[in-house]
Amino acid sequence: MKVAVLGTGGGGRAHAVRLLELGHEVYVGTRDSQVTLGRTEPDFMGIEPFGQWVADYPGIELMNFDEAAASADFVINGIDGANAVRVLSGIGRHLAGKTLMDYAVPFIYNPEQAHPWPTPWGVMPALDPVDHDSLGERIQRALPQAKVVKACVTQEQETVVHPQAVAGGDHTMFIAGEHEDAKAEVTALLRSYGWRDILDLGPLVSSRGMEMYSHMHSAIQFALGGARFGMKVMR
Ligand SMILES: NC(=O)c1ccc[n+]([C@@H]2O[C@H](COP(=O)([O-])OP(=O)(O)OC[C@H]3O[C@@H](n4cnc5c(N)ncnc54)[C@H](OP(=O)(O)O)[C@@H]3O)[C@@H](O)[C@H]2O)c1
Repeated sequence: MKVAVLGTGGGGRAHAVRLLELGHEVYVGTRDSQVTLGRTEPDFMGIEPFGQWVADYPGIELMNFDEAAASADFVINGIDGANAVRVLSGIGRHLAGKTLMDYAVPFIYNPEQAHPWPTPWGVMPALDPVDHDSLGERIQRALPQAKVVKACVTQEQETVVHPQAVAGGDHTMFIAGEHEDAKAEVTALLRSYGWRDILDLGPLVSSRGMEMYSHMHSAIQFALGGARFGMKVMR
């Protein structure tokens, strides 16, 4: 499959490497590929510059967001949550009719709104939208011809692509969306990552809960000293 991973952060890189391992053609999207490849300093989270990182993965192609989306049959959104709707709206013609798996969280890095919890990067960002709406729903409204599926939000990024690294893979992945065919495509991809317990939460309104869980996820992760973990829905 030709897959576009829109986003050069830790999540985008995790998906890109796993997809490459699984034999897919992978196009990573960025604002300006020359600018991204020219960076020499780690970002504020300490992630190494993309150009240094991608040198170990010659199969991964870096393109501008529109080119990556146009090149792919299946698209993954890992764009910073505060900017995702604007960026995706601008490339909407390349997303029409395609499945768009969205794992972004609408974190707003504004010190005046942020929660004063101690985190490795200072304070905990606030969510916007929250409760009355979600980023997943906003993306679907902005792109009525794309098929948005919210997924991969409730795990840390390496666990998303290697679920068996936690409890032998016996934990739960959630998906939500309005398009059954797109959810089937996402489910097939997640199964290829190793997920066995995939719980369909129904319509995209469920992405509100998935995104709001991110504060709980962070709190658990800090309590565990950064160790990887999963959530299991016991029936
Ligand atoms: N497991 C999970 O589901 C999980 C875990 C952590 C975070 N997240 C969420 O997933 C998303 C991606 O996280 P991440 O850590 O992989 O990457 P990130 O650093 O949050 O975002 C990376 C991407 O956002 C783009 N971007 C940043 N500012 C922008 C702007 N002003 N205009 C346009 N594009 C902009 C960057 O473009 P350039 O490439 O041009 O720099 C980059 O491609 C975020 O919403 C994050 O909160 C999800």
